[in-house]
Amino acid sequence: MDIITDIKAMQDRCFAERAAGRTIAFVPTMGFLHEGHLSLLREGRRRGDLLVLSIFVNPAQFGQGEDLDRYPRDFARDEQLARACGVDLIFYPAADAIYPDDYATFVNVVGPLTTTLEGASRPGHFRGVATVVAKLLIIVQPQVALFGRKDFQQLAVVRRMTTDLNLPVEIVGMPIVRETDGLAMSSRNVYLSDAERQQALSLSQALARGRHLAAEGVCAVGEVLAALRAMIEAQPAARIDYLRICHRSSFLEQERIDVDSVLLLAVTVGKTRLIDNGSLLDEAEAC
Ligand code: PAJ
Repeated sequence: MDIITDIKAMQDRCFAERAAGRTIAFVPTMGFLHEGHLSLLREGRRRGDLLVLSIFVNPAQFGQGEDLDRYPRDFARDEQLARACGVDLIFYPAADAIYPDDYATFVNVVGPLTTTLEGASRPGHFRGVATVVAKLLIIVQPQVALFGRKDFQQLAVVRRMTTDLNLPVEIVGMPIVRETDGLAMSSRNVYLSDAERQQALSLSQALARGRHLAAEGVCAVGEVLAALRAMIEAQPAARIDYLRICHRSSFLEQERIDVDSVLLLAVTVGKTRLIDNGSLLDEAEAC
């Protein structure tokens, strides 16, 4: 496994790999790897001849007062986990290489996709994500890039951006990996105290409850959201940022739950902001 920090060296290597007829599968991350990341790497290993992992805590996607400075990092551990997943190449650039002092170009996906939900709560976040993902795709030149549905809206933004910019890459969305008790895996889960960790279960429990209600035929969005809101608000350390049921591709809010409905929620537990999402109805259960 090679570790490359230099952008030009990375681009040259990836160009040479492609010229030699190899398929590049790419998993971009901010490091502090967990099973969610590893599931993307394992699928990438299956899909590519060369498996590339990037580790870059992207300053452009963090807002003022967010956790950029304390975002967890452990490169030595990430390196071991990557090796065990069969990663061929880690791209590990420095922030000032990706964004030198005279840096001036940003990719901005416009419309409800980036102004609602995470986009409303974290202004500029998706501009930072789209910019860094576009740059990484141009550097790594993968045929396939893998992203988790844990960041459901991010996945939609990345799909929109690659389509609109005609980037020749297949974007693969992968299922959310959870702890055995249901909590969606996240690098930020390490911030939670034991008591907060317990209350953080209210996100996945709300999802499960929403699915249960929909399956029972309770399909009025207002009624379902009121029930879920009460569940989460019963946790003393939990503060709801948003809790919404939207159409999976337009991101517009719905009044009735159908097979295209996705429940998306962001909840701050203590000082840690957590997100989760999931669909509510299978085809067979439609209201
Ligand atoms: P990061 O939070 O490190 O996540 C990297 C990838 O792992 C993303 O595609 C994310 O959706 C996926 N992932 C995280 N937790 C997951 C889980 N529990 N199950 C399945 N997949 C999971 O997302 C980012 O980094 C950044 O925004 C990035 C795309 C790298 C751009 O900077």
